[in-house]
Order: sequence, then structure tokens, then C-alpha cells
Amino acid sequence: MLPQERVTIIQGDLDVVTARSLVREIAKNLGFMPIDQARIATAVSELARNIFLYAGTGQVVVRGVEKAGKKGVEIVCEDQGPGIQDIECALQDGYSTSGGKGMGLPGARRLMDDFIVHSVVGVGTTVTCRKWRK
Ligand SMILES: Nc1ncnc2c1ncn2[C@@H]1O[C@H](COP(=O)(O)OP(=O)(O)OP(=O)(O)O)[C@@H](O)[C@H]1O
Ligand SMILES: [Mg+2]
Repeated sequence: MLPQERVTIIQGDLDVVTARSLVREIAKNLGFMPIDQARIATAVSELARNIFLYAGTGQVVVRGVEKAGKKGVEIVCEDQGPGIQDIECALQDGYSTSGGKGMGLPGARRLMDDFIVHSVVGVGTTVTCRKWRK
């Protein structure tokens, strides 16, 4: 049975740690190998960190998913923050508007299988990503 969906509200840096360990536990329960558990946890950690840094608050939703007999984990990271001006740029290595390394989004994209960024300036950002069990 797939675990039910779990929501972590992000409003402080400790919540980033909570989201990270929660997704790791769910990935483990879904049968992901430790290396993939670590990849998924790292991706979520970057996305949750972005929520806290750029939007202040938001949420991370984690759920088990199934498609064409494949099992996976889906993570939706959502905020009502400033939005991303140029999504193409934001997905490039090294692009940062905060003096950061600019590796969070592109790194998270490489760690996951599906990665969809939806963002509207002044409205907010939603990143939906999935990883499928091998
Ligand atoms: N949730 C978000 N809301 C608004 N802007 C965002 C959000 N997430 C990312 N961005 C924008 O996309 C850029 C790239 O994000 P990314 O995480 O790759 O790098 P970074 O946060 O600047 O540095 P780091 O390598 O430390 O993560 C950010 O600098 C910011 O402009
Ligand atoms: Mg970042």
C-alpha cells in the first residue's frame, strides 16, 4: 500500500530538515535503494531551502504514485512568494539572484526523473518532481 500524502509546512530552516528526513523515510518505505533515498532527500532539501529563502513560507507535499505499473514518489514544493523571473536561467548551473552557488534547482533536476517548474512573478512557484523506482 502506498503511504498517504504528507505535508510539511516550510517556515524556518528546521522545517527544511524535517522535509528532508520525511521524504527519505517515505522513499525508503516505497522501496527505493539508499542511494536513491539520498538523491531524493537532497533534491527536496534544495527545493525546501529555496522556499524558505525566496518566499519565506510554503509547503512540501510528498506522496507515493503509480504509473503504468511503475511505483514512484512525487514531491510538490509550493510557495506564494515572488516567483521566478526567468525559469530557463534559473535552471542553469551557476545562476543565482541571491549570491548563492546557483546549483539548487539544476542539481535537484538532475537528481530526479521528472521535474516541472511552474512560476508566475508576483504569484508564486510550484516545483513538481518525481522519481521512479528502478
Ligand atoms: N521558490 C523560489 N521562489 C523564487 N525564486 C526562486 C525560487 N527558487 C529558486 N528561485 C530563483 O532561482 C534561482 C536559482 O535557484 P538555485 O536554487 O538553483 O540557486 P540559489 O538558491 O541561488 O543558490 P544555491 O546553489 O545555494 O541553491 C535563485 O537564485 C532564485 O532567483
Ligand atoms: Mg537554492
